[in-house]
Amino acid sequence: MKNENLPEAGGKPEAQPVRDWVASTVRWGTLGVSVVVAVVVVSCATVTRTVVEMPTIPGAEFVGNQNCAQCHAETVRDFKTSSHAKLQAKGTNAVNLGCEGCHGPGSLHAQAGGGRNNILNPRRDAETCFKCHLDKRGEFSLPHHHPVLEGKVSCGDCHHPHKGDAIAGGGTHLASEHETCGRCHTAQRGPFVFEHEAVREGCTTCHKPHGSVNRRMLTERNSNLCFKCHFQQQTAAGKVFNGGVDHTSFLKRGTCFSGGCHEAVHGSNIGSSLRF
Ligand code: HEC
Ligand code: HEC
Ligand code: HEC
Ligand code: HEC
Ligand code: HEC
Ligand code: HEC
Ligand code: HEC
Repeated sequence: MKNENLPEAGGKPEAQPVRDWVASTVRWGTLGVSVVVAVVVVSCATVTRTVVEMPTIPGAEFVGNQNCAQCHAETVRDFKTSSHAKLQAKGTNAVNLGCEGCHGPGSLHAQAGGGRNNILNPRRDAETCFKCHLDKRGEFSLPHHHPVLEGKVSCGDCHHPHKGDAIAGGGTHLASEHETCGRCHTAQRGPFVFEHEAVREGCTTCHKPHGSVNRRMLTERNSNLCFKCHFQQQTAAGKVFNGGVDHTSFLKRGTCFSGGCHEAVHGSNIGSSLRF
């Protein structure tokens, strides 16, 4: 069963060219059975960095989802619908390692009838997510980021690990993004008398959800953020119009959303021009 070309579980996938990393071998403790975890390397460029690397807990062994079901019945039942259920091991010797992919081997925890120090919880430490999502630690280390590494925000605040789509509403669904982000950012959620229709497209139209080099985690640092949708009309006389208004001198003063201009980018209760 053991494939010499593959790294051991607990090895360092960072050292491997990710594309060549096609499987991980997990030695199944006392039974001496090796279980090959089928690795999901998704072909699209953004996910090639997602590898499967099982976490470890000293002295503990993998026991499988059914063991967890004794005490966490509802979570195990719902888990079938989750994005990460695709990580379930396949093959004749395979046990179902879904839960333990994020929580680590659970034998000590199960034998003790529960506990907090014998099992990993990504709410306290996102390291377990970074084992597979190698690129995400970097995103949360950018100059402007959600304070996940600082322990103030958890991956679980925005992602559903146990049920349904891991990205609430599939990442594009307006209502659910408003709900997710608006839970903490009530001032930006609205409703406003004068809505900015851009916000309907979702917060990630203008913000990187994990982190960005730009302040306020913006996707663009300057007025290009707005020009994506608000075309500039250039007239022969070298004047620049936006929305039918001469902006030639305005644009020299700063971004569209800096002081005195359209500061209320998320919506306004005062005027449709979103100045306040
Ligand atoms: C015999 C019952 C039992 C089994 C089996 C069991 N658990 Fe638990 N688990 C508990 C109890 C009770 C708690 C609450 C512990 C506490 O808050 O002190 C708990 C808490 C947890 C927590 C939260 C710990 C924290 O940091 O607050 C996680 C995660 C967890 N279990 C995962 C699992 C996984 C994964 C499995 C299967 C490998 C599993 N459990 C099997 C009883 C069990
Ligand atoms: C994709 C990673 C991932 C997988 C797979 C996973 N969990 Fe979790 N689990 C988490 C995260 C993240 C949290 C913390 C949620 C939060 O931030 O509130 C958590 C928390 C928990 C807790 C603590 C109580 C709670 O709900 O917050 C228990 C118990 C638990 N998980 C059990 C399970 C069981 C049982 C399975 C398998 C059916 C499982 N988990 C699979 C990521 C995962
Ligand atoms: C054992 C490896 C592994 C661990 C640990 C893991 N993931 Fe994943 N995750 C994957 C794989 C593989 C995919 C791609 C699955 C697919 O194509 O739908 C994925 C997909 C995702 C997605 C995108 C789902 C979608 O619908 O596109 C999110 C969000 C995500 N993971 C968040 C997390 C978070 C948060 C944690 C930690 C709580 C975590 N993952 C832990 C392997 C893992
Ligand atoms: C503030 C909310 C938020 C937090 C916290 C968060 N995410 Fe996300 N994440 C999102 C949103 C929104 C998307 C959808 C992608 C988009 O629209 O840009 C996403 C997408 C993803 C994806 C799939 C697409 C991609 O970029 O690869 C993965 C994997 C992922 N997140 C992992 C994580 C992990 C791991 C953590 C914790 C270390 C985490 N996220 C914390 C909001 C968040
Ligand atoms: C669990 C609560 C929580 C959720 C959910 C959440 N955030 Fe945040 N957000 C924070 C915290 C905490 C900060 C850091 C605030 C600080 O450092 O002063 C922050 C910072 C920000 C900032 C930067 C603000 C600044 O002052 O630079 C932006 C932009 C932002 N979040 C957008 C979003 C978006 C978009 C979503 C949804 C994808 C989201 N947030 C979801 C808690 C949350
Ligand atoms: C049209 C683009 C756009 C959209 C859509 C958008 N934002 Fe913003 N957001 C901005 C800009 C620009 C700033 C920076 C304003 C400044 O210079 O201080 C900002 C700033 C923020 C801040 C920092 C506090 C502040 O007001 O300066 C938070 C938090 C925030 N946005 C959350 C959200 C949330 C939550 C959503 C979705 C409901 C969202 N944003 C949608 C453009 C946008
Ligand atoms: C995703 C596309 C999109 C982005 C990005 C966007 N907007 Fe908008 N904005 C709209 C739409 C749609 C309307 C409503 C139709 C219109 O008036 O053009 C609107 C309306 C406005 C209005 C009100 C015009 C009026 O008088 O009624 C202002 C002001 C405005 N946007 C400023 C901004 C600023 C500043 C930014 C950059 C921070 C921005 N927009 C980014 C789509 C967008």
